[in-house]
Amino acid sequence: MAGAGAVDLPVGAGAVLVVGGTGKTGRRVAERLSALGYAVRVGSRSAAVPFDWHDEGTWDAALEGVSAAYLTYCPDLAFPGAVEAVGAFSRRAVERGVGRLVLLSGRGEEAAEAGEKAVMESGAAWTVVRCAWFDQNFSESFFLEPVLAGELALPVGGAVEPFVDVEDIADVAVAALTRAGHAGEVYELTGPRLLSFADVARELSAVTGREVRFAPVSPEAYRLVLEEAGLPGDFAELFSVILDGRNASLGDGVRRALGREPRDFADYARAAAATGVWNA
Ligand SMILES: NC(=O)c1ccc[n+]([C@@H]2O[C@H](COP(=O)([O-])OP(=O)(O)OC[C@H]3O[C@@H](n4cnc5c(N)ncnc54)[C@H](OP(=O)(O)O)[C@@H]3O)[C@@H](O)[C@H]2O)c1
Repeated sequence: MAGAGAVDLPVGAGAVLVVGGTGKTGRRVAERLSALGYAVRVGSRSAAVPFDWHDEGTWDAALEGVSAAYLTYCPDLAFPGAVEAVGAFSRRAVERGVGRLVLLSGRGEEAAEAGEKAVMESGAAWTVVRCAWFDQNFSESFFLEPVLAGELALPVGGAVEPFVDVEDIADVAVAALTRAGHAGEVYELTGPRLLSFADVARELSAVTGREVRFAPVSPEAYRLVLEEAGLPGDFAELFSVILDGRNASLGDGVRRALGREPRDFADYARAAAATGVWNA
């Protein structure tokens, strides 16, 4: 099975399962695969064939006739239960004839590395797409409301992060799913620049024409903010950990996988502003 990654994936070879195929990265991966002519099956609780990480009874139907799969675990690969679910699902996928697996992971998350290992040991040809913070967190996720409110409150002080554009992540994931030469690779995906959250606030102020400020807060206070918004409080500790300096460097994953430079945060911000997502 591991030899599956040595050749391009033929368009008629079977469906490509995109777990989280309505999410930030999965939606873009599914769109690209469809445009290339691949049969795509979205794997999510609301999909036509429902898939739930927490209900093994949904897994076989989602894997029926699938030759390759993109795996995104929600809410986060570093959270309790993720490693067991991703490992068990990867093994089931291989038993059902899936030849290649591409896993979305997070940079600097020690707990997520156990999930990566489980996919590496599944017997499939594997690729790990290990990503920095997404640019699109500010326009399509839990930082949209704070940007609209004009204040980014986070427990991260002056930390810098090489934010990555999910368009680049989708390009890399699709290359790994469909093309030869990506099996056995761990791609560290970042943008081309380190930015602090104060830098991000300045970039967003510039493109929106409204003041967006950065306000450092304690992890305890931020946990309460998350829980009031209905989000997992564990993100507060995770953000403090991954922004402690360990990720303050650029990765070469986009260049290695695609032979081009990653997209800059300023280009993302201009494009997102043009959609009107940050209009008051
Ligand atoms: N945000 C970041 O900056 C960042 C950085 C690095 C890595 N990551 C990783 O990105 C992953 C999340 O991916 P994303 O941001 O592309 O997704 P997302 O935008 O958060 O969307 C979540 C997707 O997963 C599906 N989903 C939610 N719960 C599910 C469940 N129990 N079973 C099956 N599907 C479920 C959702 O559809 P339904 O609601 O229909 O089920 C949706 O398609 C996490 O593993 C995280 O570690 C994120």
